[in-house]
Amino acid sequence: NAVELGPYRHYMQKEIFEQPRAIADTLEAVGDVTPGLFGEKAAEVFNDVDRILMIACGTSYYAALTSKYWLEGIAGIPCDVEIASEYRYRKSVPNPKTLVVTISQSGETADTLAALKHARDLGMTKTLTICNVATSAMVRESLLRYITRAGVEIGVASTKAFTTQLTALFLLTLCLAKVKGRLDPKDEAEYMRLLRHVPKAVSAVLALEPQVMAWAERFASKEDALFLGRGIHYPIALEGALKLKEISYIHAEAYPAGELKHGPLALVDESIPVVTVAPNDELLEKLKSNMKEVEARKGELYVFADADTGLESTEHIHVIRMPENYGPLSPILHVVPLQLLAYHTAFIRGNDVDKPRNLAKSVTTE
Ligand code: G6P
Repeated sequence: NAVELGPYRHYMQKEIFEQPRAIADTLEAVGDVTPGLFGEKAAEVFNDVDRILMIACGTSYYAALTSKYWLEGIAGIPCDVEIASEYRYRKSVPNPKTLVVTISQSGETADTLAALKHARDLGMTKTLTICNVATSAMVRESLLRYITRAGVEIGVASTKAFTTQLTALFLLTLCLAKVKGRLDPKDEAEYMRLLRHVPKAVSAVLALEPQVMAWAERFASKEDALFLGRGIHYPIALEGALKLKEISYIHAEAYPAGELKHGPLALVDESIPVVTVAPNDELLEKLKSNMKEVEARKGELYVFADADTGLESTEHIHVIRMPENYGPLSPILHVVPLQLLAYHTAFIRGNDVDKPRNLAKSVTTE
């Protein structure tokens, strides 16, 4: 292959470790927060939209779900997120003031491309794609675009494409917030400072690899795992579960922790690891009481906890300490150890990490 592996065993591992560089490159050409970042017509288009419709598949779909929290929370714009293969085949109510955002690593995923054309056929012509391949079909078919600079991604399980998509989606949020007059200059400067610091913050998280490897030893013999998150970290739990499924073939499900009592709690016993994404945010106390529900059923908790959460390891609670809470950008940090956990678990199980069975890097047929 033209891309060298260097010191890494697999492309996926290499790509996980490339994330600080990939995110920095994605931000490289960004000066001010301005619509121009998304294309010539962006200023005009952004002024005229009052809702967002995100369409994607797989990991890109989870990037979209994450950004819904930003778009509604920071920019105050209603945002719907649809799985491309569902959206294209259902009757929906088009609104011409919608910004239709497709998200794709490859820009060639058949369902996403068809969903984009479907939306346009319904009269929604304000289209934007966030894509890692500048020459792809989705970029050509869209009015506006943001090209992520992850570089070529070879591992079938997407990693650096995801975190660069999140980077682009956060920029989109700031841009729309600004156009709508909902971003005060002080906040803008602070958000941009945080965003530009993400590569460094991700590097610090990557240093946790040895601790995650020790957990992977235990996960390798499991057949099921549960992932919990709340709020904006729920999509991160979904992405963590997807990574584990894709390459380790361990059955994994993600739940918003508050939903435990409505079903998944019935699965909890000593045999099932419960991975918990625990940022130090406004939902922490709620999350802690959800963790108690797991503990009471003798579940084994594996917690990625920000500093200052007061969460400590005990007999049945295992804690890996993350850096301090990273505010709205915390999801970009919290997904990284979940990628590492899936990678090392799959490696220990002897799986073909870069080419998992039954899956393709880019699905260009329906
Ligand atoms: C396939 C890949 C996934 C990817 C999904 C969407 O299923 O295996 O890693 O997330 O397609 O691909 P896209 O290129 O549209 O982001």
